[in-house]
Amino acid sequence: MTETTYDSVAYPTMIFPHAHPDRMALMARIHGLDAAPVETARVLEIGGGDGANVIAMAAAYPDGRFLNFDLAASAVARGQALLKEAGLTNVRVEVGDILDAAESLTETFDYIIVHGVYAWVPEPVREAIWKIIGRCLAAEGVAYISYNALPGGHVRKLLRDMILRHVEGLPDAERTAAAREFLTAYAAPRDDDRPLQTGLRGEAANMLDKPPEVLYHDELGPCFEPQSLTDMAQAAGHHGMQYLNEAHPGLLADGFISEAGDSTKVRDIVAAVQRRDDDIVRFFRHSLFVRAEAKPERRLDPARIMSSHVSARCTRDGQKFTSKDGEFVISNEGLAEILDKLSASWPRRFRIDELTDQEPYAHALFRLFDFGLTQLHGGPAPFSDTPGDRPKVSALARAMIRQGYPMMYTLDHRTQNITEDEPRAFVLGLDGRSDVVDLKAGWTSEALSFEAAMTMVVESGLLQP
Ligand SMILES: C[S@@+](CC[C@H](N)C(=O)[O-])C[C@H]1O[C@@H](n2cnc3c(N)ncnc32)[C@H](O)[C@@H]1O
Repeated sequence: MTETTYDSVAYPTMIFPHAHPDRMALMARIHGLDAAPVETARVLEIGGGDGANVIAMAAAYPDGRFLNFDLAASAVARGQALLKEAGLTNVRVEVGDILDAAESLTETFDYIIVHGVYAWVPEPVREAIWKIIGRCLAAEGVAYISYNALPGGHVRKLLRDMILRHVEGLPDAERTAAAREFLTAYAAPRDDDRPLQTGLRGEAANMLDKPPEVLYHDELGPCFEPQSLTDMAQAAGHHGMQYLNEAHPGLLADGFISEAGDSTKVRDIVAAVQRRDDDIVRFFRHSLFVRAEAKPERRLDPARIMSSHVSARCTRDGQKFTSKDGEFVISNEGLAEILDKLSASWPRRFRIDELTDQEPYAHALFRLFDFGLTQLHGGPAPFSDTPGDRPKVSALARAMIRQGYPMMYTLDHRTQNITEDEPRAFVLGLDGRSDVVDLKAGWTSEALSFEAAMTMVVESGLLQP
């Protein structure tokens, strides 16, 4: 195997709720499509590094089948060590080249994920990604591709050109530090800055927030080819696919016609969304695609939201609700009561039609999801919210602690940092063999109460059902 730049500088792979089949199923069903149940889905991730994303899914859905392949053998070896330690047998993490897979991969998948790869690979590899999707996606399947979008990508390219000039000729090991030095100087405001310079300096400051390894790959890598949604929709069309919608909150209305819109043609929807991207200078997209023969509903009908699941964690002060994503005034008392119930039950998921028979509330919960106050899910929770007599934390979380990871991937696909010794030891001990009464009797920590430790475990979605 040839060593890649991702072997010499490891990329910190992360897990993403928006790059999860649960989100893809949710969005497809809201469009009236018959997406495969996540519990038994066949899922492929392309270029998923160490496979963290699919490994976390595999721990939560033992009846699902997961495959990730990536060119970087060292990342793959890391993922293989973790899944072996966790005893997961429903996930494969393999070394593989997208170009080869485009010729040889013949399995069928319900969901295909390509996160953070597309805009960083040359055109033949991008073409090969579409070839895999075109051949391997099931008839009712959904594909997810995230990419640096245009026109914002032009701004990133502009800065990248400056950085690359600055680091030209330096040994590889010195490039990231030199790039940071350049960005630090560039980001500092000048007295005579005009709005254009202020914007560019702000973007340079954003780049400085990235971990050095991410900066090394994302900004200094050999290839950076941002794509417009128009480009993506066209490429999809060439491979028998069509644009569906977005997977990330904030843009979940993109695949539906606006209230004033009168065309349900995907070409017109893409054109309208592209105009908005141009207007606000969009930087990134997480787009979903389905087969060209699929007939997604393009008008948002709240009736199709009713069978989704919902959870929420917010605090209330009168009509003001606060979540980690912002503050919201909810003047409708019925909706406020639903949010109270969800928050009091966090992290429990409720089917929306079990909470209410009112479609306008379902619509509101979807809008609030798009704004970040609620979370909508395609299916029921893959974790338990009650410890039971013999609480058992997911085998993956315990394996991560044993392997010295500073965080755990939860069963509802979040990353929970856990660095202190006592909670780490507590989580490790929750292996389903010890009785909760004995665990409490043996509790010695003064810094942390037993109840607080157990609440952390429950609220983190770590408990095996
Ligand atoms: C920016 S990283 C993203 C990793 C991961 N998907 C994430 O978002 O955290 C890009 C990944 O694409 C992989 N990659 C690039 N070219 C590839 C190819 N031709 N075949 C397979 N993987 C490739 C790299 O090895 C690297 O792991």
